[in-house]
Amino acid sequence: MLNKGESENEKIYRQIKASLFRDIHGTVVEIGPGTGVNFNYFPEDIDWIGLEPNEAFHENMLKKAASKNINARLINSVAEKIDLPDESADMVISTLVLCSVKNMKAALQEIKRVLKKGGRLIFIEHVAAPKKTGRRKVQQLFNPLNRFMADGCNCTRETWVDIEQAGFSSVHLRHETLNGTMAVFAPHIFGYAIK
Ligand SMILES: C[S@@+](CC[C@H](N)C(=O)[O-])C[C@H]1O[C@@H](n2cnc3c(N)ncnc32)[C@H](O)[C@@H]1O
Repeated sequence: MLNKGESENEKIYRQIKASLFRDIHGTVVEIGPGTGVNFNYFPEDIDWIGLEPNEAFHENMLKKAASKNINARLINSVAEKIDLPDESADMVISTLVLCSVKNMKAALQEIKRVLKKGGRLIFIEHVAAPKKTGRRKVQQLFNPLNRFMADGCNCTRETWVDIEQAGFSSVHLRHETLNGTMAVFAPHIFGYAIK
């Protein structure tokens, strides 16, 4: 059964995920899968590899994958250093993780390295509000406390700039302010980047 956090997460992201995740296939590497909120959207016939540095999530995540009949493997590692061969993944998934990685550029280069040519990074990330807006100012004031309380999560990152500059052959993304979350976390980007 979903806990309250997961059911709130479902309400906010269900529509976006149903659309973005409709063609998940092959070898799928998910960075920072957390409690495994995305398993509901994955088909059974994938090989899923989770990169999750927080071991507290591992046992339940593997149980959840098994209950969905998904062939799953977990690696205790960070996105900045992925212990997988070059060009071994059809897809990499990141939902609400690039806000927390310590080195965004290194993470994106590692993601690109493990993707096959033509493979996709699929992402949903909360991001910085437009410059000079009241919301951006509040994000800047709130960010130190947020980083402290939420395990290094930043609400001031212009993640779209990093994705666009990472050297993918094309990037397809949308900006949208989502309801149902605190105002500082409402601005989002979602979409995919093709290697
Ligand atoms: C806010 S949670 C998001 C969990 C899930 N992806 C979701 O959509 O709800 C952030 C996750 O990223 C993981 N994480 C933090 N830093 C990471 C890094 N450098 N590389 C990979 N995962 C990381 C955390 O352990 C946590 O599971």
